Amino acid sequence: MTELIYPQMPERSLVVLIGPSGSGKSTIARTWPASQVLSLDALREVVSDDAGDQTATGDAVAALHLLLEARMRRRLFTVVDATNVTRSAREPLIAAAKRHDMLPIAVMVATPGSVCIERQGPRPANRTVPEDVVIKQHKDMVDSHRTLKAEGFSEIVFSDSLYRLLPFLERLSETRQADLGLDGSAGLGDLNLVSRVFGAEILPLWQWKPGSNVADGDRVAEIRLGQQYLTLALRTDVDGEGDVGFDVMVPCPHDDECTSRAWVPAYSVTCLFRALNGDLDDDEDIVCTAHGPKNGDEQDDDLEAQDLEVIHG
Ligand code: CTP
Ligand code: MG
Repeated sequence: MTELIYPQMPERSLVVLIGPSGSGKSTIARTWPASQVLSLDALREVVSDDAGDQTATGDAVAALHLLLEARMRRRLFTVVDATNVTRSAREPLIAAAKRHDMLPIAVMVATPGSVCIERQGPRPANRTVPEDVVIKQHKDMVDSHRTLKAEGFSEIVFSDSLYRLLPFLERLSETRQADLGLDGSAGLGDLNLVSRVFGAEILPLWQWKPGSNVADGDRVAEIRLGQQYLTLALRTDVDGEGDVGFDVMVPCPHDDECTSRAWVPAYSVTCLFRALNGDLDDDEDIVCTAHGPKNGDEQDDDLEAQDLEVIHG
């Protein structure tokens, strides 16, 4: 077995991860940019909506081979994230690499079988691989080790010898620096807070509404898609000055006819979903700008009842 000197892997490499389910292949694969990783599970999901649907494996493998060929033709560094514990699974991968003068590198993810089995426990039902299958995959991986060189792999390495944490953190750091505008770009600016609270996926729908006065002078934003929208206010004094958070506009809980604005705190994207779905319409934290807090009435009612009790003895 030859050893590569890390951290560098040649640009013109095809990295074939080899390991049983739960060994940590996808965890390592994620340290490379997503576009460089061909994941069989992901393709199974693409063709069947279910990453665990074993009946979709044939179609997913066909898709993987098609994509691999396209990347090898372009001489692009590629990682194949699949168990690859059998020779028949590896053969077409090596062939694709060799057709295009790429270097096939076998990366063995040699995690102990007991650990791979233990890791199935917390997984969702459709992603749990039965114990006997994991044991077989582990045995196949160990047996493979002897034949990998003869199969045509230029290098055979164990994943433990890879230095992947540094490039992984470097990539995450670059994304973060870009978000903050520390890379010379404009950055997310005031969308950083939005991204942190509601997630990056909401950003394309987010529109600040400068000049809007629906929130007593606080900044207003809208999340709109076609006919559906939410109005939000950025509060800067939630629990004291400088403590920022968002409110989302909901109907007044006191009076169906009320046209004043009512607001309820929105802590996460779940609050946005619930607000649009009407699930927050009775939330106890709603404050109507005309009628006051949602539970203000009840307190008043309670007080009135107590007062009456006192009066009537
Ligand atoms: N894991 C870990 N430490 C590592 C690598 C993985 O704790 N060094 C954990 C992961 O967090 C995950 C589990 O092990 O919960 C399985 O890792 P994963 O990368 O998903 O395994 P795969 O080999 O991709 O499994 P499968 O073939 O089923 O996709
Ligand atoms: Mg995986």
